[in-house]
Amino acid sequence: MERGGIRISGPRPKNLTIDKIVAPGSPPGMAPDPMNDHAPAPPLQTVVRAGAGLRSRFGTPAAWTAAAPGRVNLIGEHVDYSGGLVLPIAIDRWALAVAAPARGPATRVFSIDLDRMESTDDPPAGSSALAAVIRRFPADVPPLDIALTSDVPRGAGLSSSAAVEVALATVLEAATDERLHPRDKARLCQLAEHDVGVPCGIMDMYAATSAEPMCALSIDCETLVTRAVPLPPPEDFAVVVINTKVNRTLAVTAYAERREACAQVAAQLDIANLRAADRTMIDRASLSLVHRRRAEHVVAENDRTRRAVEMLERGDLAAFGDLLFASHDSLRVLYEVSCPELDTIVDAARRLRDDGVGVIGARMTGAGFGGCAIVVCRGGAVAETARQIRAAFVSAYGREVAPFVVRAVGGSAVL
Ligand code: GLA
Repeated sequence: MERGGIRISGPRPKNLTIDKIVAPGSPPGMAPDPMNDHAPAPPLQTVVRAGAGLRSRFGTPAAWTAAAPGRVNLIGEHVDYSGGLVLPIAIDRWALAVAAPARGPATRVFSIDLDRMESTDDPPAGSSALAAVIRRFPADVPPLDIALTSDVPRGAGLSSSAAVEVALATVLEAATDERLHPRDKARLCQLAEHDVGVPCGIMDMYAATSAEPMCALSIDCETLVTRAVPLPPPEDFAVVVINTKVNRTLAVTAYAERREACAQVAAQLDIANLRAADRTMIDRASLSLVHRRRAEHVVAENDRTRRAVEMLERGDLAAFGDLLFASHDSLRVLYEVSCPELDTIVDAARRLRDDGVGVIGARMTGAGFGGCAIVVCRGGAVAETARQIRAAFVSAYGREVAPFVVRAVGGSAVL
């Protein structure tokens, strides 16, 4: 089976009807894979909202509909841009893109949630990542009317932007009959972000194009080889997400600084990127204290991610959980991308683990500086874990958080 293979096959999709909705991961036109039988699909209301937005804005029904998921990263943080190993899951929150042939000469993109219109004729559109996706698409895109909507929380570090970009690229695949390899689609969307000054790695987009249901996606960000790693059943392995809702205005600058620091250390060590570094090289090099810490994180995090995959495959969830906690500590102390709110959640989760409540591990996920933490726990421990984390958060910050459980879904698909 091709991992994260191209999922657009068969005849061009016709207008969307409810019974044509397939779970991402189930190739259209094929019987659903029994393993994926209960793989969740985008909620009907999101699909309906997308179609209604297209119709109300452009007066046209959808000819093509595509979905792409958000993600949480289980482990392997701040290493993708150093060619490292990451282990995200795509989550059951989706961006939807619907499109129809346009009557005019330009392609117009309407973001329903932002109530914003962009046109490929319109200079401001040239500066958005969406326009860059269209510009970079490797086939002639005929004039299209496109509407986008998403239920991936925005600004929470759950890759809402990547989801929208991948959904857009996927609807362009359907409209042009130009099928991209999921790796190339991810790369295209990553470059679209670079075009608008966001120097992200490839993890978010790659998870959105290539994840498989009920699996984590092991990505080697140097070779871009992926492997689906089956997750334990939900009763043994539930992923709870807690959005700190901390303002992340500094995140883009701090992210770029981290990326630059890694590039500088790699240059100093005379290697292409930090993936090639090991502990001895770092110990021997004369690095500034900050650079040493950043590099130590990257080297150790790659090792943790490699071991985390092994532990998942071996079913050693206690060891897997320890790696999650260790990853958080490293991001807090060495990479300095955590914040007190994330630490409070992880500390509370650690106490629950020590008290035998059924917590496996916890850490910040994504770029950090706010955003979300994840707590992995046994299915039966979700309610108590959520209750205790909420209590710890309210007592520390006087405001509520609303933990929610996510499921691991497949990557982008045409519906
Ligand atoms: C953001 C970026 C990713 C990755 C993570 C940190 O989500 O978009 O490429 O670098 O931060 O692991």
